[in-house]
Amino acid sequence: MVFRASFTLGLLLIFLSPPVARAVDNAEFNPLHHVGPSSPYFDAPSQSAIPVATPHGCVVDQVAYILRHGSRYPEPGSFTGWKNLFSKFQNATYTARGPLSFIPSWIPPVDDESHQITFLSSTGASEAFSLGVKLRNRYGMTKGGGNMTVWAASQQRVVDTATFFLRGYLSQGNYQPDPSLNRGTVITLAESATGAPFADSLTPSSSCPTYGTFSGAGSKNSDAFRATYRSAIAKRLNTFLNGLELNATDIGVMQDLCGFGFEIIGERRFCDVFLESEWLDYEYAHDLNYYYGSGPGNPIAAATGYPWVKAVSDLFAAGPGNTVDNGTLVPPALIMGFTHDNNIPPIIAALGLWNSTTASQHEKETIYPLPVDRRVDDPRRMFHSSYLVSFLGNVALERMSCKVGGPSESEEREKGVFHQANVLGGNVEGTSKGETEVFVRVRANDAPIAVPGCASGPGSSCPLKNFLEYVNGPRKTASGDFVEMCGLDGVEGATSEVKFLTTLGDGDGVLLGVA
Ligand SMILES: *[C@@H]1O[C@H](CO)[C@@H](O)[C@H](O)[C@H]1NC(C)=O
Ligand SMILES: *[C@@H]1O[C@H](CO)[C@@H](O)[C@H](O)[C@H]1NC(C)=O
Ligand SMILES: *[C@@H]1O[C@H](CO)[C@@H](O)[C@H](O)[C@H]1NC(C)=O
Ligand SMILES: *[C@@H]1O[C@H](CO)[C@@H](O)[C@H](O)[C@H]1NC(C)=O
Ligand SMILES: *[C@@H]1O[C@H](CO)[C@@H](O)[C@H](O)[C@H]1NC(C)=O
Repeated sequence: MVFRASFTLGLLLIFLSPPVARAVDNAEFNPLHHVGPSSPYFDAPSQSAIPVATPHGCVVDQVAYILRHGSRYPEPGSFTGWKNLFSKFQNATYTARGPLSFIPSWIPPVDDESHQITFLSSTGASEAFSLGVKLRNRYGMTKGGGNMTVWAASQQRVVDTATFFLRGYLSQGNYQPDPSLNRGTVITLAESATGAPFADSLTPSSSCPTYGTFSGAGSKNSDAFRATYRSAIAKRLNTFLNGLELNATDIGVMQDLCGFGFEIIGERRFCDVFLESEWLDYEYAHDLNYYYGSGPGNPIAAATGYPWVKAVSDLFAAGPGNTVDNGTLVPPALIMGFTHDNNIPPIIAALGLWNSTTASQHEKETIYPLPVDRRVDDPRRMFHSSYLVSFLGNVALERMSCKVGGPSESEEREKGVFHQANVLGGNVEGTSKGETEVFVRVRANDAPIAVPGCASGPGSSCPLKNFLEYVNGPRKTASGDFVEMCGLDGVEGATSEVKFLTTLGDGDGVLLGVA
């Protein structure tokens, strides 16, 4: 019994230990943090030196996340590429040296095709479970025994991510004897155009025809950029082969296999094949795909992200425990929406983030819109797909209540904090100099992001009042109306509003009793 328990713990520790950086030319560089949408989840570095922790004196009282599903197996198209590469490695007589010496024995990491392709991997399940634990600990919003409802787009891997998130979120204690306690509920939302969810969904761009007209620029620009570096990599790697020749297609598949190999069976052999600059080119190609496909570079993206931003800011205005004027449902203080990669960059676009710099006009021109013919290594470039659409990639809006004007953390440490018996926190009503004010902070993959022109609050946050003005004023104008921008005027049922957070719609599926 004891042996078994420690064995399980040992496995857990191995699994949770961070990946070790082993790139060929720079030991500090971790390729898994630079593989864009095939990156496993990791906390993005804080880009503007904003401390990541909730600022001193602040409590997050309401927060909304929109996030991509966890790590998964490949889609059928990519899997065909893996199988072709496998045939190529098997169907030749050759010698392979150095970083490629493992390829004669490499096999694609899929061993039950019909139950794995497109679905979540165990790593993805673990990422979702861990996020549940992390958010429960960070925000402390659900009392033991309390229920929790989340929303998910209806594709299986998204629903499964929501389910594993809930299992983690509700994993404390044991409530088995009482099925009315500690229940998780997943509300699923139709995600295809045929379900016609329009803006009232977690996949608004799928029912926005004009978005599709522009999103092609993403793959066009990324393909063109890939054509500039893949052959050179093939040429470099072919010096390690005798009797086999890699080409540009093979390089694309092999680079994809770094992230996927890790996410499926925890292997990193393909990560070690490529040099740092080769990873940065691979990453930049993905950056172009998302910036122009679904981010600020697609002129319709913001219109598809705005309805969620608007619904969340209306709820922040109402405050935790309340709903909007016309709402019939009070969402939990922690509002979770699970979806796909392409629905995350539109939120960044709607919020007007990562599309300008505070640097000179000259630098502004060279960073945004992202140049399509050369990689921008300038540290002021904040738009990185790896920091936004990794597996479980997310944007969060936090509503923070902060005591403003009270003693600072260092003053408290120095002078000590007055404590009155039976009064929590030591601040007696009426004796605290600090007043409570409300702020909003944006995070992407955990890293705080300052709202342009509105970062006067603690931890570079934006006062709620100003945030609401920003969303209802300039961002509304810049984003445009969903129905109008999508060319849906006069289409039956077309709506520009996210209502699912505050009403239960007819088309919503409800999965009860998780955890
Ligand atoms: C396998 O090898 C044969 C003979 O060399 C060749 O004709 C065929 O095209 C190869 N197939 C693949 C998938 O590379
Ligand atoms: C939790 O949800 C279940 C199922 O809907 C319900 O029966 C129960 O009353 C809820 N419990 C609490 C504590 O809200
Ligand atoms: C690379 O080689 C494979 C066969 O080994 C072939 O199917 C593919 O079209 C080639 N790609 C390019 C860009 O030549
Ligand atoms: C991003 O910046 C470009 C160039 O300044 C601008 O044309 C575009 O409207 C911006 N996108 C958004 C969503 O604000
Ligand atoms: C619902 O209420 C919110 C604010 O409480 C408002 O912004 C929104 O337009 C309302 N929607 C409808 C359909 O009335």
